[in-house]
Amino acid sequence: MRVYLNGELLDRSEAMIPVDDRGFLFGDGIYEVVRATGGRLGAPELHWRRLARGLAGIEIRPPAGLSERALSELAGRLLVENGLERGDALVYLQITRGAAVRTHHFPPDTTSPTVYAAASAFQPPDALRARGASVITLPDIRWARCDLKTVNLLPNVLGKQRAVAAGADEAVFVRDGVVTEGASTNVFAVFGSEVRTYPATNYILPGVTRHVLLEAAGALGVTVHEAPVLADELFTADELFLTSTTNDVMPVVTVDGRRIGAGRPGPLATQLFTALRARLVPDAAGGETDGGDYEAERIASGSRPTRSHQVT
Ligand code: PDD
Repeated sequence: MRVYLNGELLDRSEAMIPVDDRGFLFGDGIYEVVRATGGRLGAPELHWRRLARGLAGIEIRPPAGLSERALSELAGRLLVENGLERGDALVYLQITRGAAVRTHHFPPDTTSPTVYAAASAFQPPDALRARGASVITLPDIRWARCDLKTVNLLPNVLGKQRAVAAGADEAVFVRDGVVTEGASTNVFAVFGSEVRTYPATNYILPGVTRHVLLEAAGALGVTVHEAPVLADELFTADELFLTSTTNDVMPVVTVDGRRIGAGRPGPLATQLFTALRARLVPDAAGGETDGGDYEAERIASGSRPTRSHQVT
C-alpha cells in the first residue's frame, strides 16, 4: 500500500512518525474520513471545509499548499496508486501539530504539522443495513467541543467497545437526558411524520452525511427538525437511523435490547438511503451536493459552547 506522509508517497512500511509527534503524545490533531465510489470522492468540499474549520478550531496552521483542490488531488492520487478506482474505498487524512519536545503548550512556530493520508478498500455494510443495527445507550462523557473532528477519540473508542462487548453495533450517547449522536455516527428519529436530529451545536460532529441527508430529505419534501430527541423517546420512535460516511443510512432496530418500531428497517430510512447515495455518487442519479450553508460554517460563525462491529 502506498501512503502519503509530509509531501511524499511512500510504501506503508516505510512511513514513520517520530515518537514525539503530538498526535501520538497528546492526540493533538484533526482527521477526516472521505468515501470514494468508483474513484469519485463523496462530498469532498464538505469534508475539506470541516477539516479547515477543525484545524482553525485547535489553532493548527494548515500546511502550505493543502488547498481543497490539492486535497482532492491527493486523495485521487492515493486511490489510483492503490488500485482503488473501482468499488468503494475510504481515504483517511490526519494532520497533527507535528513533532516537538514534549510540552503541553504549543511547540515553537517553526514546528511543521505532520500530514498523513492513506486509502483503503471498503465494503459497505449492506448486510447489516438489510437486517438493521442494534445500539446501546451510554452517558456522553465527551468534552464540549464534539464539533471538532479531533483524534482524541477515547470516549468514542470506549463506547464502541462497550457496544461490541454487548453484542451491539453502535453506542448512542446521551447528555442530560438528550440523545446527542453515536460513537461514530449521527442519529435520526422518526415519530409519525416528524423526523428529528440533534442540532449542529458544539455537542455533536456536524456529519457530512447528516448534511447531505438533510438536503436529500428536503428535496423529497421530508422536513427534518434539528431538535433534541430525549433518550426516553427513543423507544416510542417509529424508526431510528444512523448516518455516517461509512454507513450512509443505517436503520436501527433495537435500543438497549428493546425493539424499535416494527423491529425491521423502516421505509423512510430505506428511501433516504437511496436518495443519499444518489446525491453522493452524482453519476448514479445526476444529483450533487450543493455544499451550501454547511453546519460547520454555521457553528464557526454562530454561538460558542453552550454483534458485528460493522458500524465503523
Ligand atoms: N466518523 N459523529 C461522530 C462522532 C463521528 O466520528 C462521525 C464519523 C460522524 C458522522 O460524520 P460523517 O457523516 O461526516 O462521516 C458523526 C468517521 C467515519 C470515523 O471516525 O471513522
